[in-house]
Amino acid sequence: MVKQYKAARILVVDDDESIRKIIQIALRENGLVCFTASSGDEAITILSEETIDVVIADIHMPGMDGIELTKIVKDRYKSDVIVLTGFVQEFTYERVVEEGASDFIQKPVTIEELLVRIKRVLKERKLLSERNKAESELQNSYEQLQKAIKGIIHAMAVTVEIRDPYTAGHQKRVAALACAIAEELGLNADTIDGIRMAGAIHDHGKISVPAEILSKPGQLTRFEFGIIKTHPQVGYDILRNIEFPWPVDQMILQHHERLNGSGYPAGLSGKKILIEARIIAVADVLEAMANHRPYRPALGIEKALEEIKKNRDSIYDPDVVNACLKLLADGKFDFE
Ligand SMILES: [Fe+2]
Repeated sequence: MVKQYKAARILVVDDDESIRKIIQIALRENGLVCFTASSGDEAITILSEETIDVVIADIHMPGMDGIELTKIVKDRYKSDVIVLTGFVQEFTYERVVEEGASDFIQKPVTIEELLVRIKRVLKERKLLSERNKAESELQNSYEQLQKAIKGIIHAMAVTVEIRDPYTAGHQKRVAALACAIAEELGLNADTIDGIRMAGAIHDHGKISVPAEILSKPGQLTRFEFGIIKTHPQVGYDILRNIEFPWPVDQMILQHHERLNGSGYPAGLSGKKILIEARIIAVADVLEAMANHRPYRPALGIEKALEEIKKNRDSIYDPDVVNACLKLLADGKFDFE
């Protein structure tokens, strides 16, 4: 037996003692660790106590037969099974493999052939375990990357909120409402993840707006409003070189665009505005109107809902507005 397969653990199950003995001696001579069992029940006892790589099971045994044993092994343990039979006409290869066996050998079998089959099964096991390991490593690094992205987004959200206490909490609430709307619209989980990320930092560009303007009580001058209106572009410029798995930069750039082209910065209209941005826009307006701003007291949720209802079709995407209204009417979302 090739060195890398030595010390592999084999369990031979056969009611014929002489066959068990012959196979056990031969396998041990080839460096394999070999256990034996005279019945399916005894095999299961050994499997529950020992780690076994391959079970070699006779088909015809009193009590539990080899097929039944194969099913149990595949159900409960991680071992492979090679089925041995002298009655090839009763069981087709397909049937045995369907039950979970890795191979099927007709008796009488030579030790050389048995060793070749065991080696093949062990090789497949090794390849499978390497593949599973690689897949789980890939999954781990993907999860770590997701965590890092969330951490970066959170840090960015906090940065702008430190300068602008009125924005504190606003981005988080917009993200939550936008995700709930997206879910109501039936968008897929990945798109919703992107909306959550963009929603949480949609006003990040306000970092370039002087704090006095952000927290100015009372009406803003045209000039001051002009400065505030630069924030989608600034947010986009900051993010555009980061390759997120979602179009986060575009969602932020477009969150003040309006369906009829009256928004900013590009005056995009209709479907030229990303669905994600159309959703964030509605969530943004609703949250901003419902809550207190430096230049006005809170207008309340009713006024906010009136605004989006009145402008559904013209300014806001009607499907998004309808989903939002349904969500709130059904009590499926609460800003708290
Ligand atoms: Fe904004």
